[in-house]
Parts: sequence; C-alpha cells; structure tokens
Amino acid sequence: MDKTFSFIYKSLRLSELNDVQLRLINACKNAVSGSYAPYSNFNVGAAVLLDNDIIVTGANQENVAYPSGMCAERVAMFAANAGYPNSAPIALAIAACQNGVFTEKPVTPCGACRQVLIESEKRFGRSIQVLLYGTDEIILIDSVADLLPLSFEF
Ligand code: THU
Repeated sequence: MDKTFSFIYKSLRLSELNDVQLRLINACKNAVSGSYAPYSNFNVGAAVLLDNDIIVTGANQENVAYPSGMCAERVAMFAANAGYPNSAPIALAIAACQNGVFTEKPVTPCGACRQVLIESEKRFGRSIQVLLYGTDEIILIDSVADLLPLSFEF
C-alpha cells in the first residue's frame, strides 16, 4: 500500500504579514548581529515567540572544533525553554546573511533543529508556526510537524 505525505505552505511578501509576524521577522533579522560565524561566514538569526508574548532570540555560534558549534534555531529555542520553561513557543522566524547581505531565498532549519523544534510541539501540545525570511519571498509553514514527517517516537 502506498501512502503519501504532502503539506501546504505559503509564499508571502512582507506586506502580507500581520503585525506579530512582522515583529518576529524584525527580531530574527536583528538577531543576526549576534552570530559568530568566522568559519562559514554564514550568519543566521532566529526569534522564538512564546505564548506569553515574549520573543527570545538566538544566532549561530561556531567553534574551531566544528561540531561544537550550534545553529541559531537551537540557540534560540534552548534559551526560550531554559528561561521560560512553562511558556509554549508558538512561532519561530529565521533569517540569514551571507557576506553581510540577507539571502534572497529563505533558509530552512537543518534536520537536527527540526528534531529539537518538534520536541517542543510535542512537549507543549502547541504547533509552532515557522516563518522563513528571504528578500525574494517569505515562507510560512503552519507546523514543524510538516517539516519532519514520521518523526522518531518511542
Ligand atoms: N546554520 C544555522 O544556524 N541555521 C540553519 O538553519 C542552517 C545552518 C548555521 C550553522 C553554521 O554555523 C552555518 O549556519 C553554516 O552551516
């Protein structure tokens, strides 16, 4: 028996975003300034919106021992969970700069970050809306579960 997985997502312009989404996009763009990425020169910022209306930001942190570095999404999500363990993350925005310029295409979270993000959806029972910023388009995804089908469970 064949089974399929598909999901609908939106490709938007800035003018189509609501105030909360704009605030989150601005927060992740500003968060890029906290990036430490001397090895890749790829600077990423992330902003997590909590259900208490607080926004927690993060940026990628690289290390000379490459695997010791951390993506912006996990820096932001772990900081949000550590600082506000009783508040559910309800949205996440990501932006990236290459050579000081925001990317045209949106950057999508890596597999390890998707795993961390889906843990939050399961832990709090709340889906996380994902906003991916690019200068050409903004992608809006309703839930991290869409980005990680058949995710690991035991
Ligand atoms: N990176 C992120 O911070 N988030 C992503 O979604 C993709 C990759 C970082 C890791 C590394 O510091 C640099 O971007 C290049 O891979």
